[in-house]
Amino acid sequence: MTKEANITWHESTISKLDRRLQNGHGSCTLWFTGLSGSGKSTIANAVSNELYRQGINEYVLDGDNIRHGLNGDLGFSEYERTENIRRIGEVAKLFVDSGKVITTAFISPFSSDREKVRDLFEEGEFIEVFVSCPLEECERRDPKQLYQKARRGEIKNFTGIDSPYERPTSPEITIQTDLLTVEEAVEKVFEYLRNKNII
Ligand code: ADX
Repeated sequence: MTKEANITWHESTISKLDRRLQNGHGSCTLWFTGLSGSGKSTIANAVSNELYRQGINEYVLDGDNIRHGLNGDLGFSEYERTENIRRIGEVAKLFVDSGKVITTAFISPFSSDREKVRDLFEEGEFIEVFVSCPLEECERRDPKQLYQKARRGEIKNFTGIDSPYERPTSPEITIQTDLLTVEEAVEKVFEYLRNKNII
């Protein structure tokens, strides 16, 4: 019998730090929150595109897509929104562990749900980005004509109409989409990431 027969090969465990070192940048979740039509998805996607262009490992988790797949069983009651955000938070954490900079775009209307997600992360990894836009402006844009339907009573529990949106009280970044262009919003996020030495 060779002496190797009694030796177990221990797979070395690759840590989040190892992955960050290999990538050459930090990892975090940019958690965009705001009303439907505020511009969350547009900015989250624009940020991710620019990250990708700069060679940074990124990924986007976007409301409508996740609700078709992973969270296809969930609607818009208070409980279901809480569960939606809880699952996305757990997925976001895995992505951060994998070394990526991820952007998420969900209304995430309840402060307590957002705080529970924040608590999953280490200090500095959860970056709340408040996409601030007056309800009247979101309603004027109404890209999916959902506000119209909500006003007619055809959709119940619509955020901003008959379901509340709790504004973040101390977000890391605030973007006023009624005042900034998409390019300016992207730059604001990049400035933050550079200042924190994440990228
Ligand atoms: S969240 O409240 O649970 O965070 P999420 O971001 O996943 O919501 O999904 C919001 C999207 O679902 C909206 O942009 C809109 O297209 C669609 N939607 C359908 N019904 C509702 C509703 N009752 N309230 C808000 N958004 C709705």
